[in-house]
Amino acid sequence: MSVQFKILVGILFTIATIVVLAIYGFAEDSRMRTYQANFAGRSIQAGGDYFERYCIACHGERGEGIVGKGPPLNRTDLLDLKNTPYLKAIAWNGTTADFIKNTIAAGRPQYSKYYENEGYTQHMPTWSQDYGGPLRPDQVDALTDYVLNWAPGEYGPIVAIVTPTPGPTATPIPPGEFLKAIPFPVTETGPGDAILSEGKAVYDKNCAACHGTGLAGDGPGAQGTAKPPRNFTDCTAMRQFPLITHHDAVVNGRVQTGMPAWGKRLSNEDIWKVIMYERSPCGNFIEPISP
Ligand code: HEC
Ligand code: HEC
Repeated sequence: MSVQFKILVGILFTIATIVVLAIYGFAEDSRMRTYQANFAGRSIQAGGDYFERYCIACHGERGEGIVGKGPPLNRTDLLDLKNTPYLKAIAWNGTTADFIKNTIAAGRPQYSKYYENEGYTQHMPTWSQDYGGPLRPDQVDALTDYVLNWAPGEYGPIVAIVTPTPGPTATPIPPGEFLKAIPFPVTETGPGDAILSEGKAVYDKNCAACHGTGLAGDGPGAQGTAKPPRNFTDCTAMRQFPLITHHDAVVNGRVQTGMPAWGKRLSNEDIWKVIMYERSPCGNFIEPISP
């Protein structure tokens, strides 16, 4: 055999080896992909189980959200992984996966600016043991995979983009007309026990989480807020608290401090009933009317 021939055989073997390795490599790659897909599938499945157990009470069975409890998660602005409109709106610099994982792990001890007017009765809980919550970090990862699996593709998000709406603005009522705006009779001694107990029901359902079951402004939902709610049983202060200001606070909320706007959520009747209930400990139902 000539030297050239040996070299040629050597080259051919080398090429053959490379080809074999490449073929094996491709197969390996696809095996890895299948393995990863299976693994991701299992993680999504586990995440689905956890979601059903821990999250649907506030976010709905398919992440569609529940009014008064929790926002939709299965929505296009959050799960548009390419353009990330929601993350841009809230100035989050990381990835969508990081955002979701981080939110689930740490929770939201305070309402975020984006949701402060939604009137949620409870905060997003802290879930990861890393932050003092009940779930292991791998369970948080599985939940993250599950939420991400709603991203457009096989399953498209089912909820349209949510645009934050500013709180409603009430038409100002002139002081002379104010008492006439109340949809039931009220005298100096109040609207009567029946109305007050209906007001209490509205309060217990919508306000007590932040304002406290005893009207003292000490509910768990308002802990850590910049300006905690006033104490409706402090009569020195309450005797100075005008009815018009009280009504405005309930209808329009107090943006920035976490007091939601109720004008579009509660009926006019319920708003007045709850106002009367809040004024009942100090008995100044209609005084003073204006500042
Ligand atoms: C007690 C009700 C409640 C439960 C239970 C709950 N959440 Fe939430 N979640 C909320 C509220 C309220 C918000 C919005 C908080 C805010 O930003 O003010 C929220 C926000 C979120 C967000 C961020 C959404 C966004 O648009 O910023 C994610 C993600 C989320 N929750 C995932 C989960 C997962 C996963 C679970 C189950 C492990 C869960 N939540 C359980 C109430 C809840
Ligand atoms: C998510 C927590 C939260 C919920 C729920 C909530 N509030 Fe508030 N509320 C606050 C906070 C915080 C303040 C203090 C904000 C401020 O005075 O600027 C406040 C302030 C108020 C004030 C104004 C008091 C003042 O000193 O001017 C009134 C009135 C009021 N809330 C009524 C209600 C009623 C009625 C409901 C239920 C229908 C309700 N709130 C539900 C957190 C909440």
